[in-house]
Amino acid sequence: MRQHGTSPRTRPRTRLLGVLLLVVAAGAAGTGAAPAGPEAAPTTPAPAVRPLGDVVPVPASVRPGGAPYTLTARTRIQVDRVPGGGADAREARRIGTYLAQVLRPSTGYALPVTGGDGPGGIRLRLSGHETALGEEGYRLESGPAGVTVTAREPAGLFHGVQTLRQQLPASVEEDTRQPGPWTVAGGTITDTPRYGYRGAMLDVSRHFFTVGQVKRYIDQLALYKINKLHLHLSDDQGWRIAVDSWPRLATHGGSTQVGGGPGGYYTKAQYKDIVAYAASRHLEVVPEIDMPGHTNAALASYAELNCDGVAPPLYTGTEVGFSSLCVAKDVTYDFVDDVVRELAALTPGRYLHIGGDEAHSTSHQDYVAFMDRAQATVAKYGKTVVGWHQLTGARPAPGALAQYWGLDRTGDAEKARVADAARNGTGLVLSPADRLYLDMKYTKDTPLGLSWAGYVEVRRSYDWDPGAYLPGVPAGAVRGVEAPLWSETVSTSAHIDTMAFPRLLSAAELGWSPAASHDWEDYRQRLAGQGPRLEALGVDYHRSPQVPWRTR
Ligand code: ACM
Repeated sequence: MRQHGTSPRTRPRTRLLGVLLLVVAAGAAGTGAAPAGPEAAPTTPAPAVRPLGDVVPVPASVRPGGAPYTLTARTRIQVDRVPGGGADAREARRIGTYLAQVLRPSTGYALPVTGGDGPGGIRLRLSGHETALGEEGYRLESGPAGVTVTAREPAGLFHGVQTLRQQLPASVEEDTRQPGPWTVAGGTITDTPRYGYRGAMLDVSRHFFTVGQVKRYIDQLALYKINKLHLHLSDDQGWRIAVDSWPRLATHGGSTQVGGGPGGYYTKAQYKDIVAYAASRHLEVVPEIDMPGHTNAALASYAELNCDGVAPPLYTGTEVGFSSLCVAKDVTYDFVDDVVRELAALTPGRYLHIGGDEAHSTSHQDYVAFMDRAQATVAKYGKTVVGWHQLTGARPAPGALAQYWGLDRTGDAEKARVADAARNGTGLVLSPADRLYLDMKYTKDTPLGLSWAGYVEVRRSYDWDPGAYLPGVPAGAVRGVEAPLWSETVSTSAHIDTMAFPRLLSAAELGWSPAASHDWEDYRQRLAGQGPRLEALGVDYHRSPQVPWRTR
């Protein structure tokens, strides 16, 4: 982001005027910022039976019809036997148990999970013949005798279960017994995702988040069919993953955070626990080690990584762009090899993110040379490279993904460079900062967050099309979307809740639902229906005045 000058993620006072002008421009461009107060959308009561398809993300096809199904104390969750058994059969059974665990506390029903394929009740079916449902699709059929979710793959079953959950009253999410009734509208939903990459990023470097906090976020992401958790594991302010061959990265580099708190890091066992938990919610973890910039925590931990051989002090501020690995030193590539090798060994997923953003203290020539070697190292350990889109200014490796974080106002040259790379085979994940950065303030009154990309109210986060966002990008180059949550100002689960919700749902819907379903009026009505559900889950979301939130 060289064209932004210095430190776009910070708010130097001298740039305040620029920020104000930007906000005025954003408002003038009709970006949907609704005023608070008297014009706030009125709230409406929730309907007794939620109409079929009144869920987020909206399904690809909804055919309502016929009588509804109501759970009773005798309802069983049947998981069909899978021919040949094996891992898919075990996973289907586990998904049945997961569903039972969601439904039991609030319904008070026993909901035994059984084998068999009898009619009635809740039925989960895996069928290899359902090729049209693909890797992640499902069909949900609801009628008076029961609800059946069918999928080709376990991931589809899991996503179908999230739809079933959302079709039930919001109070089903409570952890104490509720009155019901537990009714699912009749009809058929057939649903497959628009994109295979639907991500959320959590910056655990600027502020550290515990395993429990990360798991809580994973559970929230799963409800909306997000399937990638990108963990920003290193930055100037903290190194958050144990590396056996370079132990001081974690013990020293992880010992603080923005504002000077104690920081922290994940042991390998803890990290594996996060990865396994994410997998149990059908999310793939994409670990990021940001290089060659954003590396002060590493440089502070090992003097030899610095060109002058002197380790800088740990850093607890919020500036960016001041640190760089020493590109000319061999030891730098020993470090990269060791870190990538150990991290790849902890990563069952396909991807390893190497950052590459805001390398303002690395010359262009050095940047290109470094990224060549870092990408080769990722390939050596069997992973696919992801980088921030500055990677397209170097030489993206075949098959690499570039994560675009520019703005509407990003210069044409930079956008064209990204489009060129896309035409040459680089896949794109779209995270426009003025749409999907969850750390941007909603309005000037939002207590947390930054505003260098402008204010991002709910409509702005939703009302754009990833398929038509960057000119000159071929269909198929866009692999999906991701909503990053940077944590300079975010340090608790309550902070995550208020910044991510409800804007995370915009990313979820843009990533999953067909372009033809895009409609702000329809979206904000369905989003309104998620309010009581988020409340029942204890998520203190931003009550945007753009949304006619439903009351419980
Ligand atoms: C970024 O926000 N520097 C990727």
